[in-house]
Amino acid sequence: MPTTLKITPPLEGVLCITLNRPEALNALNTQLLGELADTLNSADCDDNVRAVVITGSAKAFAAGADINEMAERDLVGMLEDPRQHHWATITRFRKPIIAAVNGYALGGGCELAMHADIIIAGESALFGQPEINLGIMPGAGGTQRLLRAVGKSLATQMVLTGEPISARRALEAGLISEITQPELTLERAMTIATRIAAKAPLAVRLARESLHKAMDTDLATGLRFERHAFTLLAGTADREEGIRAFQEKRPATFQGH
Ligand code: HXC
Repeated sequence: MPTTLKITPPLEGVLCITLNRPEALNALNTQLLGELADTLNSADCDDNVRAVVITGSAKAFAAGADINEMAERDLVGMLEDPRQHHWATITRFRKPIIAAVNGYALGGGCELAMHADIIIAGESALFGQPEINLGIMPGAGGTQRLLRAVGKSLATQMVLTGEPISARRALEAGLISEITQPELTLERAMTIATRIAAKAPLAVRLARESLHKAMDTDLATGLRFERHAFTLLAGTADREEGIRAFQEKRPATFQGH
């Protein structure tokens, strides 16, 4: 049973995970990352879970890696660091993740938010990569995903000065897709996740994979993947159901095959 997370059982296909280390602004220690990785691993094989929402508290989504824990590890410790394994597990998760962010999303917290497919933030949220202030640099995607999301100039400014950006700036830059009042962030993320969870699971999986290809391959390879995935879906019962439901003017009921 996780102690650093609150997990609500899947409702309408959506699993909601709340980071819960209030005493450390949800700093990502080994235990929290391990529990998150284990939860996502189980959710990956659970047909009742079609999308996941990850959130934190009103004050912090997560204030980064746990600095006190980092202080205990030297170079050798870093090379065998179980946290790297947990990050890799989180990265491999195959279903849509929506991050509902309020307060601080700093360092590893910003990187965790960027693992999500969609980020919704409250208007007081702050996104930043302050590692440079500790004499280090981002290590879980904070240079790679951030640059792809906001472009070279802003990513470089954030990583080299360590100064965070507001939710408004994050919206303009394309890091997040919507701003809400803080008390409505989770509700909005759940609404989006519930909508996604009702779609044909194979179509969601392949569309998401195809979107990911846009981040890490050249255009021709991405287009080839897209065409291949599109063709694969042509053989599914859910495609037949989606088209028939449209013609019969009723909502589609997708079965996942
Ligand atoms: C451990 C942390 C923490 C952290 C906050 N706390 N952030 N503990 N690791 N990352 C603890 C504080 O020590 C304090 O505990 C309690 O949470 C409340 O924090 P305060 O500092 O008192 O709150 P406040 O004054 O409101 O300031 C909030 C803050 C500040 C601006 C977010 O806490 C801060 O700068 N935190 C560090 C942010 C950071 O540098 N993140 C990057 C980490 S490196 P006590 O016991 O004193 O009450 C990283 C690398 C990722 O993320 C690499 C991935 C591979």
